[in-house]
Formats: sequence, structure tokens, C-alpha cells
Amino acid sequence: MSTASDNVLVARDLQKSFGGLSIVKGVDLEVRRGERHAILGPNGAGKSTLFNLFSGAFPPSAGSIELNGRPIGGLSPEQINRAGLARSFQITNVFGKLSALENIRMGVLARHGVRFNLWRRVSGMQAINDEARALLEQVRLGHRADTPAADLTYSEQRSLEIGMTLATGAEMILLDEPTAGMSRAEAAYIVELIRQVTVGKTLMMVEHDMSVVFGLCDRISVLVYGKILATGTPDEIRANRDVQEAYLGEEVH
Ligand SMILES: Nc1ncnc2c1ncn2[C@@H]1O[C@H](COP(=O)(O)OP(=O)(O)OP(=O)(O)O)[C@@H](O)[C@H]1O
Ligand SMILES: [Mg+2]
Repeated sequence: MSTASDNVLVARDLQKSFGGLSIVKGVDLEVRRGERHAILGPNGAGKSTLFNLFSGAFPPSAGSIELNGRPIGGLSPEQINRAGLARSFQITNVFGKLSALENIRMGVLARHGVRFNLWRRVSGMQAINDEARALLEQVRLGHRADTPAADLTYSEQRSLEIGMTLATGAEMILLDEPTAGMSRAEAAYIVELIRQVTVGKTLMMVEHDMSVVFGLCDRISVLVYGKILATGTPDEIRANRDVQEAYLGEEVH
């Protein structure tokens, strides 16, 4: 039996409608501390919308979201970020004119906030630069520190984005299709990177590629037409008849 503190994120009867059109239709979801949890589902199922609700891009129409037992539904993205949740977007979202290091530094600065006034002290500036460099190394972009983000390759940009989510210091990371548009080799590289950088954190990711999901994630929730069809381990999801039917014609293995 799990207790409340085992879960980082809990959604109850979560709903979202746009102009009367119901997109998320009563989602119940528990993300356990330290797990890698995939949201799998067909195009238009509402996966990104769910992430938008969790990260505060817009408020739920109904239902609740708790992060570490604290209600976060309807809070701003900044408030939710400070509460410990960071996300990347389905579409690459880096600042093209800024260097790789400067992009990461923005995340680090956001975390420290103006409260500490660190930026105004030389030692503080040094500490922030050191931290940004370390994060850049962690996402294997140390050699690209001074390269404008726009000049990085696509997979390097996605690595940078992952670094930016880490830079905020959040314990829970949401990645929306981190391997979208990548070759098999690039995707394998990013998956390994994600595996390494999320040790000690909680990961929730949207992913279409089932081999990625089954290889990386501890548990999977299948979202179809705004509802969770099933949640379970990769083996349980593979064996689930409802999932097999929803994915009829596709291989679930
Ligand atoms: N801000 C919005 N206003 C109106 N409709 C929206 C909005 N955001 C999403 N939708 C609609 O909600 C539905 C689900 O979209 P969503 O992006 O959540 O799906 P998804 O599961 O992430 O799909 P994909 O796999 O293609 O990324 C779509 O029909 C979309 O048009
Ligand atoms: Mg999406």
C-alpha cells in the first residue's frame, strides 16, 4: 500500500476544456518519488495539455493537482517551478542568440532569484557560472559553451533544454517528446542522457516511441481521448487488453 508521501505528483479527476470542448476528461494519476513515468498515447490524446496543466501554463477546468501534498492547480508556472517542477516543451524552446552556457545560466539564475542578489557580487557571479558550467558538462555540452544555441544541432538543442530544466533545481522533471524528430542513434543518445541526469529525480515524459518508453520507464500511463486507459509497469502495459486494443495494428512489445 502506498502512502501519500510516496507520491510527488497526484492528480485527481483532472479536467480541461477549451471553449466547451473537453480535452482532459477526469485524469487520476500518481507519480511516485524517484520513478520514471511515461505518458503514452495517440496524437491529440491530451498529453501536452496534461503537461500544461501540471506546469501551470493554464489552470484546470476542474479537479486537483498536488505536488508533494501541496495543491498547485491554477498556480503560475513560476510558482510551480519554485515548488519543484520543471518542464521542457514538445517544440524546442531555447534562446537562439544566447550561447549554450548563457541559456543554462538563465535557469540557474531563475532558481536563485533576485532574493539573494548574487548576481551583483563577483563571488556570486562566479558561483552561478560554475554551476552553469557543471550542468553543461552534465548534458555533455561543455565543448559547446560559447556556441549560440541557434547554431547547435537539433539533438544538442534538446540536450540544452534538458539542462535548462535541471538548472532550475526541480526534483520533478517533465519532458514532452524529448526524442521527437530524431534518428534512432540520436534518440538512443538522448535516452541515455535522460537516464543519467534524472538519477535521484522524478521524471514524467511524453513519448511516442514505445521502445524508448519500455526501455527507460518504470511505469507507464496510457492516455486515450483525455482519459487514462491503464497505468502499470512495462510488462503490465504490454499485457493489458485495453491497451492492445487501443494500439491495434501497432506493435506493443
Ligand atoms: N490552447 C488550446 N486551445 C484549444 N484547443 C487546444 C489547446 N491546446 C490543445 N488543444 C486541443 O486539445 C487536443 C489535445 O491536444 P494535445 O496537444 O494535448 O495532444 P497530444 O496528446 O499532446 O498530441 P501529440 O501527440 O500530437 O503531441 C487537440 O485536439 C488540440 O487541438
Ligand atoms: Mg503533444
